[in-house]
Amino acid sequence: MSERLQDALLSIEGEAREAEDWGRVATYIPELARVPLKQFGIAVATAEGELFSAGEADTGFSIQSVSKVFALALALGRAGDQLWTRVGREPSGSAFNSIVQLEYERGIPRNPFINAGAIVTTDEILAGRQPKVALAELLGFVRAAVGDDSIFINDAVAASERAHGHRNFALANFLYACGNLKNPPDLTLGTYFHQCAIEMSVKQLALAGRFLVAAPGMPRLVSRARMRRICAIMMTCGHYDASGDFAFHVGLPGKSGVGGGILAIVPGQASVAVWSPGLNANGNSKLGTEAMERLARAMDWTVF
Ligand code: DON
Repeated sequence: MSERLQDALLSIEGEAREAEDWGRVATYIPELARVPLKQFGIAVATAEGELFSAGEADTGFSIQSVSKVFALALALGRAGDQLWTRVGREPSGSAFNSIVQLEYERGIPRNPFINAGAIVTTDEILAGRQPKVALAELLGFVRAAVGDDSIFINDAVAASERAHGHRNFALANFLYACGNLKNPPDLTLGTYFHQCAIEMSVKQLALAGRFLVAAPGMPRLVSRARMRRICAIMMTCGHYDASGDFAFHVGLPGKSGVGGGILAIVPGQASVAVWSPGLNANGNSKLGTEAMERLARAMDWTVF
């Protein structure tokens, strides 16, 4: 498989470089708007313990919403199934930062991957702890998953989002008003913004995803049953309103972030990370999504 996989990655990278439309970098977090558009990296960590990559595979980027996968794993470890009394697990059919649905549904977010749901998940991790301790636990989880203690939080990105995160403040305040935040909105959001500002390269992100691959030799950070559930939610909700499209074209559980990263899991076989900072209209990496489709097809990777 290794030669075929490396060839596929190189040819996918080559095609990406030829793109006429690289999408648009996110601008609502000013620090992300400064990232040069024309960058592309892809990496695959296999169940056999190998790591393959192509393109800008060592360049760090802001993982943003991909962090919600690690936060969910940690919150489920903390609260177990009780978490589902505070957040649902149905696709939302709305944008990641939608406000309107939260009021209709009385402060219970549809799923842990839209912003409202992720704020609740982070709130669960924070409950009973100082923000620094909660963040250290989350970073510890990610570092253990990657096997690399150099993973860090980019404070400038977190501060940039805090200064402009008015929609998230609206969501957190509404959640608090509904009794669905255990901590003051400001504290939960401070933690959430830092969580989103974790920085990784695609090589590191592919390694981080191995805890969901379910194969011998992979880091065992959650139970098999929990892996299945996290992957199910990635499949149905990981790309927001474009989750159906991602399932249709790629056929793998995946999670995107506005930094342009995407993590996808091939159960039993591999963890895949791609990054290109230009986004499509749904706020997911444009070339990253296209690359995932090409790779899944080239390797015949699918859960179906
Ligand atoms: O809360 C936000 O808006 C960002 N910190 C994360 C959003 C995100 O990554 C959406 N994903 N495509």
